[in-house]
Amino acid sequence: MVSRRGFLTGLALAPVAVYAAGCSIGTSAPGSVGSSATRPLPIPPLAPSTVGSDGVRRFTLRVQTGVTEMVRGSSTPTWGFSGSVLGPTVRARRGEKVAFAITNDLPEPTSVHWHGMHLPAKYDGGPHQMIAPGASWAPEWTVQQQAATLWYHPHPHGATEKHVQRGLSGLFLVDDDEADALDLPKDYGVDDIPLVIQDRRFNADGTLNETDSTDIGLLGDTIITNGIANAHLPVTTERVRLRVLNGSSGRLYNLSFADNREFQLIATDGGLLTKPVALKTIQLSPGERAELVVTLRAGENVTLRSLPITERAGVDNAAEYGLDDTFDILTLRAAPSLRTSAALPAALIPMRALAAANTPPTRAFELQWFMINNQRMDMNRIDMTIPVNTTEVWTVRNKDNWPHNFHVHDVQFQVLAIDGNPPPPALSGWKDTVYTTPGATYTLAMHFADHTDPTFPYMYHCHLLHHEDKGMMGQFLVLGPGQQPAPMQMDMGAPGGMGGMHHG
Ligand code: C2O
Ligand code: CU
Ligand code: CU
Repeated sequence: MVSRRGFLTGLALAPVAVYAAGCSIGTSAPGSVGSSATRPLPIPPLAPSTVGSDGVRRFTLRVQTGVTEMVRGSSTPTWGFSGSVLGPTVRARRGEKVAFAITNDLPEPTSVHWHGMHLPAKYDGGPHQMIAPGASWAPEWTVQQQAATLWYHPHPHGATEKHVQRGLSGLFLVDDDEADALDLPKDYGVDDIPLVIQDRRFNADGTLNETDSTDIGLLGDTIITNGIANAHLPVTTERVRLRVLNGSSGRLYNLSFADNREFQLIATDGGLLTKPVALKTIQLSPGERAELVVTLRAGENVTLRSLPITERAGVDNAAEYGLDDTFDILTLRAAPSLRTSAALPAALIPMRALAAANTPPTRAFELQWFMINNQRMDMNRIDMTIPVNTTEVWTVRNKDNWPHNFHVHDVQFQVLAIDGNPPPPALSGWKDTVYTTPGATYTLAMHFADHTDPTFPYMYHCHLLHHEDKGMMGQFLVLGPGQQPAPMQMDMGAPGGMGGMHHG
């Protein structure tokens, strides 16, 4: 069951147990064994789905344990969605109704959050939607946003870093007619490549090392891409689109190509930019995505690297947080002859500004230590209520000497300004997560269109997972006219915070 492109092995088209626990991935690909230490980049399979007469696209996911050959020749116990590690790539179109049957076969409670998705709060998959071991969860919603590279991952309060670190992350690609009409690389796994970048540390016996956390969480010394260390990407087309997710818990990446070639940034967290932007480096903090298009010549090899982080002013202990590190991420190996690709369109997807850069802020947030506005997360505290159908302007200031970022559920936002100046091109599109450098103030605009719910909140938090786990997170309700908050009260003394749920 190993394909030439190094697909995750053992995958079948059955909706459950897509690849069985105990399988390793990406092994024994012809042409790599014995000739080179690298293995072909595994391409997560597309999640199988069925569309019934009701028009609903239905997916099944199983959260499970498994064993993965993350490093060649060693076995690492891991967790995955319908497989030993990561998850299948979910794909749905704007306007489509999607439904999931998710079973938790882990020995502990987890949840599945749809990062970047605009959807009802009760299906958001945050810490209020825990799935007990052996239980199932069935969220459903209508996809109402433009084409984008989103992702899904667990969000159990206090344990997100562990669950993600053990392997639970998958991509969720939204498609729409406007993006389809553009001549962009879009052949999944051929010239449209999902690329989940993570870092891990291993013990001598191959198990994941989950000790010696830094102030920004677990930092690895080994880069894994789509679940394996030391991968290469066989390239058969002139242009390749890389849908990059920083899936690390605390590590920042400053991506560039080893020969410093230019690439085109075409999309950020929430979808395509108004036009491609030529760049030589792009920084991604945990949770952020970027779609890059790179052009190759026949027969050449070019390595995607991460360079030392330049946005470090005000960060103490930069070395301890990995900001000095250089890593090879992935080598792109172009075939002796390449299929020609169309030039990129000059214009992509228009974006309407949500607010003027000088709009007075609705709310202000200060990031410091494990706190937002001097408070740590309380599952039983609603930090703010937002009236539906409003556009809000938030300022977010990192007043710490640690790196932090800021993620908001439910919406995509626009960065209006950084310290009063217009954002750089890489931050000019739709974002749901933004890096915050110490001392700087980020002005964000976002629109809360619908999905009122007096009971279930959405989260905002630092996406450095250790910080999130330690309580650098808050909750908001989106309320309709006249609606009063009626949140659930959780008994946090119960295992996994699952017990004693009642209306407050
Ligand atoms: Cu990707 Cu609240 O998380
Ligand atoms: Cu999220
Ligand atoms: Cu943080």
